[in-house]
Amino acid sequence: MSVKSDGWGSRVGLILAMAGNAVGLGNFLRFPVQAVQNGGGAFIIPYLVCFVVMGIPLLFIEWSSGRFGGRHGNHSTPYILDSMVKGRILKYIGVFGIFTNIAVAAYYCYIESWTMSYVYHSIVGTFNGMSQAEVAGFFNSYVDIGQSTTGIPYEAVVFYIVCLVLNTYILSKGLKGIEKVAKIGMPLLIFFGVLLAIRGLTLGTSGASEIFPNANAWDGLNFLWTPQYESLLDLKVWMAAAGQIFFTLSVGMGTIHCYAAYLEAKDDIALNAVSAGFMNEFVEVVLGSLIVIPIAAGYLGLDWVLENAGFGMAFQTMPYLFQQWGDVLSILAGVFWFGLLFFAGITSSLAMGTPWIGFMRDEFNWNQTKGAWSFGAMILILGMPTVIFFQEGVFDEYDYWAGTVSLVVFAMMETILFSWVFGMKKGWREITSGADIKVPNVYKYIIKYVTPIMLIVIFLGSLFKPLDNDWSGNFSSLFSGNGWSLDNGSIIKTVTHAGIKQQLAAATDVATQTALNDKMFYINIARFLLLGLFIFISVLVYVAFQKRRREGRATE
Ligand code: PHE
Ligand code: NA
Repeated sequence: MSVKSDGWGSRVGLILAMAGNAVGLGNFLRFPVQAVQNGGGAFIIPYLVCFVVMGIPLLFIEWSSGRFGGRHGNHSTPYILDSMVKGRILKYIGVFGIFTNIAVAAYYCYIESWTMSYVYHSIVGTFNGMSQAEVAGFFNSYVDIGQSTTGIPYEAVVFYIVCLVLNTYILSKGLKGIEKVAKIGMPLLIFFGVLLAIRGLTLGTSGASEIFPNANAWDGLNFLWTPQYESLLDLKVWMAAAGQIFFTLSVGMGTIHCYAAYLEAKDDIALNAVSAGFMNEFVEVVLGSLIVIPIAAGYLGLDWVLENAGFGMAFQTMPYLFQQWGDVLSILAGVFWFGLLFFAGITSSLAMGTPWIGFMRDEFNWNQTKGAWSFGAMILILGMPTVIFFQEGVFDEYDYWAGTVSLVVFAMMETILFSWVFGMKKGWREITSGADIKVPNVYKYIIKYVTPIMLIVIFLGSLFKPLDNDWSGNFSSLFSGNGWSLDNGSIIKTVTHAGIKQQLAAATDVATQTALNDKMFYINIARFLLLGLFIFISVLVYVAFQKRRREGRATE
């Protein structure tokens, strides 16, 4: 039997923990970049549609599956699925729900550790008086761990380990620890975010630097919030919008199932799911769009933002822009901004630890401490390559397979299982039982038909992504008998390194060839580790199954 199960202290604690799970680095680092790269106002409508017909249904599915599994003593997706559908095989789909968390945590905690370091550097005034190029250079030397010129030897490694130890320690305290962090972190995050957003809203042209006299913060907001309807026909924008919805809501991961498995059978899930989901959307759509983009547009101009939109903006540009507000305010702004990112990050990375711990506890009677430290050890092993070989692409490879592809694959399979194998009749009963709101009946049909079809389309679309992401062009080519050309970014071509091989073929000098070959080598190491992890967890699920059979607990 499993060790006495943990439980949530209060409803507020549960909602804050679930919101903390969802609200993460994705809201502040990923969303603005996705929005800008996909045409600003062109992105928002597909994004909101995906939230309503895919995000909310997946929240309902995952919350109710989790509570259902918890009722049968299961707290991680392999055996949550096993309690829902019969058969020996289907539980292995749940391997994704442990695998993804460990793999994502390995690189996610690395970014989280940057935010800790940047809080420190903001306080001690490292960025004071630096030029824009110097602030950007600081980041580059930070991630190039060997030639550390940041003041602390091997600083990136040091902060990464500190970050892992902190996560592990909190996880060892169980749900109570997570709840406590969420209760402190979420209000602070919103407070910091609102202050920075007010700054973004009020910057206008007044803050514009002498260097860019025409820069205007409002240009950034108008770009994001002027809807453009033409994009509705562009599948590329839809794919990006769907990908963002997955990542930001933490669906397709297994964390929501796990948190929900600690609910009581009679607890509400409908209102809870919607509340946590909307809290994430508020933080993303309102706070996430009112900080980086308007502030950067206010100083450097919208054109600069469009050209430089990327992950680096938060670390390479913001500390420089904050300096324009004077010494004291720049320190505060730095602490608010990186502190906000830190709380966003840690409440999510803690969530990623729970499925593994729940699994080991249910199946092998491990206690919380052992579960937590083994999780820390695994992400240390998997994460060190992302730290050491950050520039060689290991980080991106993890993000591609674990943070992008796996989410879609798992979400697609669990939705089909829920709506068609478990069945919508039982499914709807699970969603509505104990519900504190009336779930609109249309959701019965959305979950049964619309969500699975959308997920299948998205999956096939990324498998066979067309050349240059040009959907209409490739469809007309297909229908006129000229076939479908795959993009190097399609899953099929990525697997075979088609993109790198093409670059290799075009490379003329030895240095470039060596660099590309090295890159391929490091990417293969990343794949080897990820595959190893996947197999390892599958084996554990198998061993657990044998153990259950011996103990007469297996449901066959
Ligand atoms: N939703 C989180 C974010 O927006 C990321 C995350 C994914 C967290 C999966 C937990 C599980 O950053
Ligand atoms: Na999020």
